[in-house]
Amino acid sequence: MTNLEILKNTFKKKKSKNILEVGCNVGLVTKTLSKIPNIGILSIDNNKQHVNIAKKKLKFEKNIKFKVINFFDLKESQKFDVIIFREFFNILNYKKNKQIIRKSEKILNDKGLIILIDFYKSVTTRSNLLQIFIKSKKPTKNLNKFVENQNDFNKYFKKEKWKIKIFNKDLLDQHVSTVSKILEMIYPVKYTVFAYKKK
Ligand SMILES: C[S@@+](CC[C@H](N)C(=O)[O-])C[C@H]1O[C@@H](n2cnc3c(N)ncnc32)[C@H](O)[C@@H]1O
Repeated sequence: MTNLEILKNTFKKKKSKNILEVGCNVGLVTKTLSKIPNIGILSIDNNKQHVNIAKKKLKFEKNIKFKVINFFDLKESQKFDVIIFREFFNILNYKKNKQIIRKSEKILNDKGLIILIDFYKSVTTRSNLLQIFIKSKKPTKNLNKFVENQNDFNKYFKKEKWKIKIFNKDLLDQHVSTVSKILEMIYPVKYTVFAYKKK
């Protein structure tokens, strides 16, 4: 099964319709999400320039809405079946990560799902390796000390009474360069976590 098929099947199985994409940037991941049938997507970013580029690029996609807003300022009256954070979790600090989970709980539907996609702490070595192949690529900073490996997720979400499923790969990597994908196979550091609140 391809990465996108895993997502499509999950959304279908859970009857997920309303998707929130947080930190959509210029819409690279949004473009992939637009290929998933029968869903509506709200893609947000607090950077207006990013959102304008994404909007232009995806102006023909009827199932996507864009909004310039800080995630933490989203109204809690609007609920979502799935919230996707790709390369968002790591840019914030540990305290903020907890706030992301808290805020998500408030805007998720009952059987809602959070999808976290990011790098484990070991990203620095991979980033240095990548620079050998793509000289212009800036090294990825190890900003977040939140998760080193699967155990950190297990510990954290157990305490929070969430059920989780971990994939040691990026399920939304369709726009990623071939060189990065090859490197990811040799030196894998990405994760996708599906987290469901236990009822
Ligand atoms: C590293 S980029 C990730 C882009 C995209 N998700 C991807 O995977 O390619 C993080 C994005 O989050 C946005 N961002 C940072 N803090 C935010 C916040 N509090 N609310 C909404 N967007 C935010 C930034 O402007 C940036 O576009």
